[in-house]
Amino acid sequence: MSRKDRYAVFGNPIQHSKSPRIHALFARQTGQAIDYQAQQVSAECFTAAVGQFFAEGGLGLNCTVPLKELAWQYATHKSQRAEQAKAVNTLALQADGTVLGDNTDGCGLVSDLTGNHGVALAGINILVLGAGGAARGIITPLLEQNPTTIVIANRTTDKAVALAEQFQSGGSSITGCGFGDLHGQQFGLILNATSASLSGQLPPLPLSILTEQGCCYDLAYSNTPTPFVRWGWANGAAKSLDGLGMLVEQAAEAFFIWRGVRPDSRPVIEALTAERCGTYRLTQ
Ligand code: ATR
Repeated sequence: MSRKDRYAVFGNPIQHSKSPRIHALFARQTGQAIDYQAQQVSAECFTAAVGQFFAEGGLGLNCTVPLKELAWQYATHKSQRAEQAKAVNTLALQADGTVLGDNTDGCGLVSDLTGNHGVALAGINILVLGAGGAARGIITPLLEQNPTTIVIANRTTDKAVALAEQFQSGGSSITGCGFGDLHGQQFGLILNATSASLSGQLPPLPLSILTEQGCCYDLAYSNTPTPFVRWGWANGAAKSLDGLGMLVEQAAEAFFIWRGVRPDSRPVIEALTAERCGTYRLTQ
């Protein structure tokens, strides 16, 4: 009997991760023989756990909260997008025994917005809420889509200003501010990259900052609409989405890095959407 190639997602907490299901669906769809498990790993145990995983024949890892910065440190070499994000969500063992670190979160977000939801990013004003790791990981892929401006707004203003400055060198129009500074501005797309949704909270946003036909997108996902998705509905968003599609798209890119085969993400997004649909509809 041939053994399946081993992959896993490390995180803490990890029990509700949808990644094993997503990769099982990709594997079935593409005929790839892989085994993908979720493993709870604390920050303290991260280096030892990754070393053991690869020593025992594992070929690739996804790393999620709170391990992405540690994965960035662990990787022997990194993709440009991972270097810019200073965070790694995908580790891939190379033929020479080194470990490549990549970050597929930002391209997963852009694929979901543009490919799955038809949201054009060129020539619009984008507001990114939050200035932590999740925000840092999406800025470069967003800038590559040529928006008119990106504004980063954060509870701690200094962090938003500092993050924006990191990306200004290429002549990009990107600025940082506090939530209170958003009065009078309007955006065609508002992305929630704070961790507020995870604790059922909402950043304090002024009303009227969304353009007519504007969209809202929460990088977090949940079986019930997040407070930010609800905020989008209440403020007339043409679309108010959560990060389920981004989750599947970042996984598809990781699968491609590991296997060299690009899965079709749409039927997987449809399957996961159908699985949560009853709960989602009930609470709208
Ligand atoms: P992640 O890796 O998920 O981005 P992080 O690096 O800890 O996590 O960043 C969390 C982000 O969510 C920060 O921008 C944080 O704001 P501060 O920098 O002011 O701490 C933001 N955040 C967390 N809870 C929030 C809340 N209740 N309201 C607004 N912003 C919040």
